Amino acid sequence: MKALVLAGGAGTRLRPITYTSAKQLVPVANKPILFYGLEQIRDAGINDVAIVVGDTHAEIEAAVGDGSALGIDVTYVHQDQPLGLAHALLAAESALGGDDVVMFLGDNLIEGGIDEVVRRFVAERPAAQLLLKQVEDPSRFGVAVLDGDGTVERLVEKPSEPPSDLALVGVYLFTPAIFDAARAIKPSWRGELEITDAIQRLVDDGRRVTASTVDGWWLDTGKKDDLLEANRTVLAGIDRRIDGEVDASSAVVGNVVLEVGASLINTSVRGPAVIGANTVLEDVHVGPFSSIAADCRLTRCELEYSVVMERCDIRDVPRLEGSLLGREVSVSRTERRPAAHRLLLGDHSQVEIAGGS
Ligand code: DAU
Repeated sequence: MKALVLAGGAGTRLRPITYTSAKQLVPVANKPILFYGLEQIRDAGINDVAIVVGDTHAEIEAAVGDGSALGIDVTYVHQDQPLGLAHALLAAESALGGDDVVMFLGDNLIEGGIDEVVRRFVAERPAAQLLLKQVEDPSRFGVAVLDGDGTVERLVEKPSEPPSDLALVGVYLFTPAIFDAARAIKPSWRGELEITDAIQRLVDDGRRVTASTVDGWWLDTGKKDDLLEANRTVLAGIDRRIDGEVDASSAVVGNVVLEVGASLINTSVRGPAVIGANTVLEDVHVGPFSSIAADCRLTRCELEYSVVMERCDIRDVPRLEGSLLGREVSVSRTERRPAAHRLLLGDHSQVEIAGGS
């Protein structure tokens, strides 16, 4: 059995972060989203991993390399254009060499790993096995309808009137029968070759398609609020580890990771929170559910429920909350006249300035 991880695509919903960075490498608890999936694949005993990449291939290849640091063996498949999940799968057909495959979407995070679903697939070997989760807003996802004994009867991609509340989670197991099904379908209304349609094709051809449901959390990190929620959920499960420096006037409460070379000066951190290597916080309060990456400098500010990426500089900002900052962002307060907000923002940036008198 091999794994196929989809890490191409455009990431339009996380702009402007994804103008300069692959969405699968945006960090959750200071680790790229993609790495969680790769580790779960490894933990399920699968070593051969093909990763589909697109425009952001250089960045993904730099982060993952040959996979040896993660204990897997990675090959890359180039997809010319992000023409859909089934298109990405077809691009990888020869790399998969006729084996069964677990396909994992590189922007999905699921709790508890995939070893159980892989074991079930190997034991039962249906044409396809899906992972489903009951959700409140099924029209954002692929949606499945099951018959009485739990086999999949019908699938629809992002329906405006969902026929059920069972969303397709981004982990699919396939025999090679999926390739002919993917070749037989036409692009959808959004111009993509949908994996959902290819699986429906298997059902229509009388092949067995089964499903398991996810009991734990499942997070699709497509948008800022989803990402902050993913960060909150993952941080809720971390253990305390203090490898950096904490001076006598600082306090660290609860489950906090302070990496080597990080330094707290007259600063309080209330976990769960992670603070990356060589990051310096001086006269700062960090509240729960915050991830601050490596090599940042925060001075005289407060921050909570936020993700800050590498090399940011934040000074004299009374309170930041619910924020996602890309790399090398600078936010500061100034006494310069005229008193005004001065912004340099990339396309699709979003700023909310606190109101009040
Ligand atoms: O997250 C689960 C959902 O993922 C499912 O419920 C849907 O049925 C499924 O179609 C998919 O929907 P999204 O619209 O969220 O997929 P997205 O475009 O975000 O792509 C998922 C991953 O696959 C992401 O890491 C980018 C990558 N990708 C995407 C496309 C369209 C590729 O590598 N190549 C592509 O052509």
